[in-house]
Amino acid sequence: MPELVWLNGEVQDLDTAVTPVADHAHLYGDGLFEGIRIYNRKVFKLDEHLDRLYSGIRYLGFEMQIPQNELKQTVLDVCAQAGEEKGYIRLNVTRGTGLGLDPAHINRRPNVMVMVSRLSLYPPEAYETGLVAVLCSTRIIPAQCLDPRLKTIGRYVSNIQAKLEANRQGAGEGIMLNTEGYLAEGTGDNVFLIRDGVMRTPHLSCGILAGITRATVIQLARQAGIEVREEFLTMYDLVGADEAFLTGTAAEVIPLVGVDGKKIGCGVPGEVTKRLMALFREHTNEGTPF
Ligand SMILES: Cc1ncc(COP(=O)(O)O)c(C=O)c1O
Repeated sequence: MPELVWLNGEVQDLDTAVTPVADHAHLYGDGLFEGIRIYNRKVFKLDEHLDRLYSGIRYLGFEMQIPQNELKQTVLDVCAQAGEEKGYIRLNVTRGTGLGLDPAHINRRPNVMVMVSRLSLYPPEAYETGLVAVLCSTRIIPAQCLDPRLKTIGRYVSNIQAKLEANRQGAGEGIMLNTEGYLAEGTGDNVFLIRDGVMRTPHLSCGILAGITRATVIQLARQAGIEVREEFLTMYDLVGADEAFLTGTAAEVIPLVGVDGKKIGCGVPGEVTKRLMALFREHTNEGTPF
């Protein structure tokens, strides 16, 4: 697959494309991103990802020159050029270029990137056997410090720390709590559990990212007649669940079968999880064609 990157209006080869070294996200993490999947030559949930991106752009006061519908067309054009059935799009928008924290002293011309590549977050067999996770000591950044609706580049330093904790313990994923000790999310995904046939997931006010896959899975579950509750949950709930799974654009829907050396349910992917995985897979055909 030609791995392409559209950078500030020019399509380049992924290996040779360069961003300015004084880019404000490179210097300070002052940028936003989206990860989006391509399934069957269609871009999945493109409008939802662009809505989240442009809400962040407005909130952070980036002087974005490209209207949302234009960037949407660019994404579709770059995908058509890459011409692949399946793939992963990385969309970055940064505040601009210039040294120094103060946006008044930089050029305030956002650097915009649309990368079409591939990403497998977990090994393929983990979708059959399930992931085993550990609880991380690194907590999510509290909503009082950084609104969790902002998918900022800089936020991910703590998620990477949590991922390193999981790696050190040989676990497939790390589970993060918020600073009050409530269950929050994985390092790059939202978490769900099932207990007595009811699907439960942390409430958005726990400070988690409002995942687009999370919202999709909630909708699919409700349409299938499964009760879904958004609640304040703890590790007690996760360890005592009958089943659990993680959701995310990169992760898709993946079973979680153990945490901290304890089995979740029987330690194998549960029936509700498998049903949701199948419904999700079917739904991935609903994207925007290019
Ligand atoms: C911390 C975190 N939570 C949840 C998600 C899932 O969000 P989405 O389904 O929108 O990809 C992500 C995805 O990147 C994430 O980084």
